[in-house]
Amino acid sequence: MDKNLGMSHFSSSSLEPEPEPFRVEYAQRVHRLPPYLFGRINNILYQKRRAGRDVIDLGMGNPSDPPERSIMEKLAEATYDERNHGYSKSNGLLNLRRELTSKYFRKYGVRLDPDTEAIVWLGSKEGFSHMCLALMGPGDTAMIPAPYFPVHMYGVILAAGNVVALDVSDSEQFLSNIAYTCQHFYPRPKLLIINYPHNPSTVTVEQDFFTEIVKLAKRYGFMVISDFAYSDVAFDGYTPPSFLASPGATDVGVEFTTMSKGYNMAGWRVGFCAGNHEMVRGLATIKGYYDYGMFQAIQIAAIVALRDTEAAVERQSQIYQRRRDVLVDGLRRIGWDATPPKAGMFVWAKVPDRWLERMNTMEFAMKLLEHGDVAVSPGSGFGPAGEGYLRMALVENESRLQQAVRQIGRGLESMEQEYGSPPSPAAAAHPSPSET
Ligand SMILES: Cc1ncc(COP(=O)(O)O)c(C=O)c1O
Repeated sequence: MDKNLGMSHFSSSSLEPEPEPFRVEYAQRVHRLPPYLFGRINNILYQKRRAGRDVIDLGMGNPSDPPERSIMEKLAEATYDERNHGYSKSNGLLNLRRELTSKYFRKYGVRLDPDTEAIVWLGSKEGFSHMCLALMGPGDTAMIPAPYFPVHMYGVILAAGNVVALDVSDSEQFLSNIAYTCQHFYPRPKLLIINYPHNPSTVTVEQDFFTEIVKLAKRYGFMVISDFAYSDVAFDGYTPPSFLASPGATDVGVEFTTMSKGYNMAGWRVGFCAGNHEMVRGLATIKGYYDYGMFQAIQIAAIVALRDTEAAVERQSQIYQRRRDVLVDGLRRIGWDATPPKAGMFVWAKVPDRWLERMNTMEFAMKLLEHGDVAVSPGSGFGPAGEGYLRMALVENESRLQQAVRQIGRGLESMEQEYGSPPSPAAAAHPSPSET
């Protein structure tokens, strides 16, 4: 046998095409995610801080206060218990689910079965996105609020579903838009995502609103996910209602809650889903494949937090309320239109029109950072319905918020030098004769 002939069969012969350069190809679902909109702002923030500038960061709703000391002590104690270091129960300790359902009963009069109608998840955002995986697939449509907290849109997109975004600013209109969408869409939307107190717009509702949602869900056959992340942060005596407290709510939907906000435990990743037992079961099925449950010491400390620290949660709301007042008063003093929210961790402020005539909200937020050393979230980061607004998180203390307003004022003055004074509202309303 010809040796060379035999060899050429196994070696890369000149007849074989050159191998393509190795490429990592992402799945189609990754291509459906847009570039991260806050990336540019975070980049400037990082550069400024590296250069030693003291930037006031009101961008992210990341609580800056610590959890109650007793919660941290319980975590430390439970960490030293050798029995707490194995894999935990995927759905969460029964006692933690019991604490959650007792809180629902105490606060909202809602009765839930901790065995079948409640599940613990590693953060409510992660729980929400996995619920989308359990419910949504190609060809399925979800109705979501506009503007939207990004995972409300992209949790559905990652699950290969489609979204219809409905304006949340007017709650009556929101209800009519749901009915209209269900009447005109084929196939009908499968899911409605609601989020009150709403992030970013701070819109709140009363219980009747949820009662209407349940009626619509039954009439048109869609499921409901209520993201109740700001259940524990409310002001002036307002208690945000729970979707689950409306008659028939557990027939059609679930609600996500979290310990990130009211309990200052954002890094701990303790979230819950409660309500319709089949939806909870769907989520539990997914969970069994994805993870082994939450570190047991965290769950034990979370039990103590839910059981014993209601007063601290109340105090934390008062802290946010005072910060809200400082920020809203300050912004109004420099001529901005800002409505004090009834709940949540944010102020949703309209960018003055005279600036919107010159630049979009993203550019305005970048300029505020450059000229004023204050970082905020541009409303357009929450979809086109957020254009024209800025979201400011109440995560700095009162004196830093006063300082932030001063810096915004000074930043605008320096922007005016860069751009020239914007037309005053009076001049815009009465055009000069040469313009007519
Ligand atoms: C509306 C909304 N849902 C969910 C979350 C996330 O909560 P968790 O920390 O439990 O994932 C946030 C956090 O900012 C939020 O604003």
